[in-house]
Amino acid sequence: MDWRAEFPGLARTTYLNSCAHGLLSRRVRRAVDAHLDRWQDDPDWGAWGDAVEAARAQFARLIHASPKDVAVVANASQGIAAVMGALVPRPGRDVLVTWENDFPTSQALAERQRARGFRHRRIAGEGLVLRADSWARRLGDDAALAIVPAVASFSGYRLDLKAFVAAAHARGTPVLVDAFQAAGTYDINVQALDVDFLVSGVYKWLLAPAGLAFLYVHPDHAARMQPVASGWLALEEPYAFDPLGPLAADARRFQSGGASVVGCVAAAESLALVQEVGVGAIERRNRALVERAMAHARERKWEVLTPEAPEERASIVTFRVPDPAAAMATLARERVVVNPRLGGLRVSPHFYNDEGDVDRLFEALGEGASPQ
Ligand SMILES: Cc1ncc(COP(=O)(O)O)c(C=O)c1O
Repeated sequence: MDWRAEFPGLARTTYLNSCAHGLLSRRVRRAVDAHLDRWQDDPDWGAWGDAVEAARAQFARLIHASPKDVAVVANASQGIAAVMGALVPRPGRDVLVTWENDFPTSQALAERQRARGFRHRRIAGEGLVLRADSWARRLGDDAALAIVPAVASFSGYRLDLKAFVAAAHARGTPVLVDAFQAAGTYDINVQALDVDFLVSGVYKWLLAPAGLAFLYVHPDHAARMQPVASGWLALEEPYAFDPLGPLAADARRFQSGGASVVGCVAAAESLALVQEVGVGAIERRNRALVERAMAHARERKWEVLTPEAPEERASIVTFRVPDPAAAMATLARERVVVNPRLGGLRVSPHFYNDEGDVDRLFEALGEGASPQ
């Protein structure tokens, strides 16, 4: 699998940071350029709407959903907020449950809901991981919603979503999965998982610009929930321009206003590219590169913070180095891009990387990553 030529950013940089921001492909660049040319020379509002629908349909295909069950939102945080805002605290069902090692946004949003009468239960895991059985014991029977990531941003720990969803449902609790660090790196099937809500942005593994995300809502919930930040594009017939018209019966009721059309043009193209490469092939490729990085780290006796078990990791590996600040300075000089996280380095190869990229990272780090 050689997609390097499609990503000019790899020519001068050893880019191993796709969990922060994915690379721009030539193909996405061409699609955006064509859109801008058309906007300039032959403006067509209808084509803008088509771009939004194309992006929605591509994301739906990625997660095995129907497009009508996918809302187009501005970012993952807005998608999570839309779901929380549609919940009402009830006696005996007034807790929002998060994991304290999740990316801050779900926890920050749950905190905000205290003003609306919710309680917020932050569950601690076992070190950097969270096991479904111990989580289930602490979940309680009073949760209105439980939020878990598919893959933890900082450690790369991959959760057994099927077990989490089953455990929550056994307690009458719906689950929102934040799949931003997973979508596009392994197959996620919302129907097989029976997940209630799933959110993902596009600017990491899905290789499109920031400013666009998708929210899957199970049709049973979409029909009865009342989101409170829904604007005109959440109405059943937005182009009737009736402010008092009914909300859409499907996930569109979680939308707000106009989406980033440029973002949708880019995302429709990048999602098509990801699916052309194949999520299964991406998973195998990224796993091999992650395992190569793990082997390099172990050779140097650096502690790997990402779990050892293959089913508990995806495309991120985080490991300690003797001096993370010095290591980052060295890597900046060598034009190797990774992130400092958890007191170590977080490395996130994607299908466009190769073994040489991983090897270059460790050559640059040397034995102890001390500054020259
Ligand atoms: C798991 C996860 N969720 C959400 C976010 C932030 O998403 P957004 O900026 O689209 O709200 C990140 C960013 O790193 C993330 O890793």
